[in-house]
Amino acid sequence: MSLDDASTKPHERMQAALALDLEATGALIRERMASEHAPRIPEVTAHLVEAGGKRIRPMLTLAAARLCGYEGEDHRKLAATVEFIHTATLLHDDVVDESSKRRGRPTANLLWDNKSSVLVGDYLFARAFQLMVETQNLRVLDILSNAAATIAEGEVLQLTAAMNLATTEAIYLQVIRGKTAALFEAACEVGGIIAGQPDPVVSALARYGDGLGVAFQMADDLLDWGGASGEIGKNTGDDFRERKLTLPVIRAVAKADAIERAFWVRTIEKGDQQDGDLDQAMEILRRHGALEETRAEAYRHAAEARAALAEVPDHALTGMMSDLADYVVARLT
Ligand code: IPE
Ligand code: IPE
Ligand code: MG
Ligand code: MG
Repeated sequence: MSLDDASTKPHERMQAALALDLEATGALIRERMASEHAPRIPEVTAHLVEAGGKRIRPMLTLAAARLCGYEGEDHRKLAATVEFIHTATLLHDDVVDESSKRRGRPTANLLWDNKSSVLVGDYLFARAFQLMVETQNLRVLDILSNAAATIAEGEVLQLTAAMNLATTEAIYLQVIRGKTAALFEAACEVGGIIAGQPDPVVSALARYGDGLGVAFQMADDLLDWGGASGEIGKNTGDDFRERKLTLPVIRAVAKADAIERAFWVRTIEKGDQQDGDLDQAMEILRRHGALEETRAEAYRHAAEARAALAEVPDHALTGMMSDLADYVVARLT
């Protein structure tokens, strides 16, 4: 694959440009996910880690550091830290969401049990913290530990906002900034910090990560309504079953007539869902253009991400990050 081939997907071009770094990060992840004393840990982590994953977050850390001219190796520790935090949250998230499919495989909570997923997730969080401490960079520790707290806050806020038709777009944004964009933002930021960049560059990287993360989660919320399960490696319709107020539903509820409102009250507030309700919900979303509107919002945040890159050093990787912003939304089609 040629790095310059414009037809290649941006994350594939980034993978090729960062191949050595990614390989070393992968080796670090495999080395640190092991445990001498509890065989259940490598069983569960290997199940999830070997299923792949797009590795977008560690790639952002590696790219941010490299495009800022970093020539050391600590960025790999930070990339592995970021992927460990992500993997831990996935283990916990699938318990909370009662999901049965992840990365094209049965979830760990289904194959083993909730207890294993929660405890192995905790172990991975702890391993993440050990790794980042090795960099001995206090600013990096501050940013990544804040991100870990913010992710948990986002997940808890989402829990309390679920089933509530009064959930506003502001709350939705707070949820997705917390549960998803915070880690994208931190992933980019720490790459710049480890490379010793001045504050304006670090904050531009942070703004890019935030815009990308918000766009990414909006796209993920759209995929939950439409993506083919085989392509996304997860089941669709989970959010409706879990009675979550994602942006398409918030937009449709705002435009609902009396009959539609009664439908949302029954299915989301009361949780009385019957066969055919998912199709019916989809039909209402289509009627109000709620999916199109959500896609437009996602592109708006992707554009903000791209704009932030104007203040970041010019580099082939900067161009790929710019393309990645639109790609995370375009992967829908
Ligand atoms: C899944 O993230 C969790 C969300 C924030 C939607 P990814 O889609 O990046 O998951 P993997 O790592 O590629 O499986
Ligand atoms: C993902 O939330 C965010 C975290 C894992 C913290 P979702 O529940 O929306 O993501 P998927 O769809 O399960 O990947
Ligand atoms: Mg989930
Ligand atoms: Mg969730």
